[in-house]
Amino acid sequence: MTVLGPNESILDPREAALGTEGLVRRFGEVTAVDDVTLAVPSGELRAVIGPNGAGKTTLFNVVTGLLSPTAGRVWFEGTDVTDAPQYERPHAGLARSFQSNELFTEESVLENVRVVVQTAEYGPFGLDLFRDAASVGRERAVEILDRVGLDAAHDTLAKNLPHGDQRRLGIAMALATDPDVLLLDEPTSGMSPGATTKTAALVEDIHDSLGLTVLLIEHDMDVVLSISDRVTVLDQGRAIATGPPEEIRTDDDVQEAYLGGIREEL
Ligand SMILES: Nc1ncnc2c1ncn2[C@@H]1O[C@H](COP(=O)(O)OP(=O)(O)O)[C@@H](O)[C@H]1O
Ligand SMILES: [Mg+2]
Repeated sequence: MTVLGPNESILDPREAALGTEGLVRRFGEVTAVDDVTLAVPSGELRAVIGPNGAGKTTLFNVVTGLLSPTAGRVWFEGTDVTDAPQYERPHAGLARSFQSNELFTEESVLENVRVVVQTAEYGPFGLDLFRDAASVGRERAVEILDRVGLDAAHDTLAKNLPHGDQRRLGIAMALATDPDVLLLDEPTSGMSPGATTKTAALVEDIHDSLGLTVLLIEHDMDVVLSISDRVTVLDQGRAIATGPPEEIRTDDDVQEAYLGGIREEL
């Protein structure tokens, strides 16, 4: 068994596409992220799994700068971004999928993506510069919507999209920032089995054809086992194992962490 222990040692986090070093985040008495050291190599599709409350979302929030860490460092392609403000991180090539509540609900699907392209290309003041220029970034937005399978929904208002398509729009908006590293927090949650399969294929396609490094929080074990290169298991804030999906599935510590939870699925 070659499952890496709590601290990955193959690659220095400082040399990874995305690395963390002794990352800690506390909320009062709760240690949501507890001394997590990760090194995700460029081009890897890394799944992050773990029981509810394991600290997966908090880890993403600290990595993207939405929350500051209590201790530890975050590295992005060799640069320490621990103290960089959140709004600077997409420009560093790090993006997370937009949540449903971050969509411009009264705007069309195309406009949602186009505005992100425009902002990514011209900076936060780009919107003022081109307020009436509905063509800026349009071509790129169309291309991205083709990729995520929303090509037939350009003119639909975001609020009228079915749930699954709203999640896909959130992924499209993240892609519109042209990231090197993409973080997806449960992109299949609340989806039907059919939509889940479609979304898993989309994540795999984004990873394979765009060559992105992807960090994927996912509860659906079929998805995790079929598309990830490696899996990191969080339990009570700690990274208890990292390895290829097949080895993670049979690892004793992992089985233990899931006892009484979703062990059957593993
Ligand atoms: N903003 C917050 N304030 C207080 N506690 C929080 C906050 N966010 C998360 N937590 C706590 O941190 C722990 C990890 O939560 P979370 O990162 O959401 O886990 P997961 O995404 O793995 O389900 C939980 O105990 C949760 O209650
Ligand atoms: Mg979560």
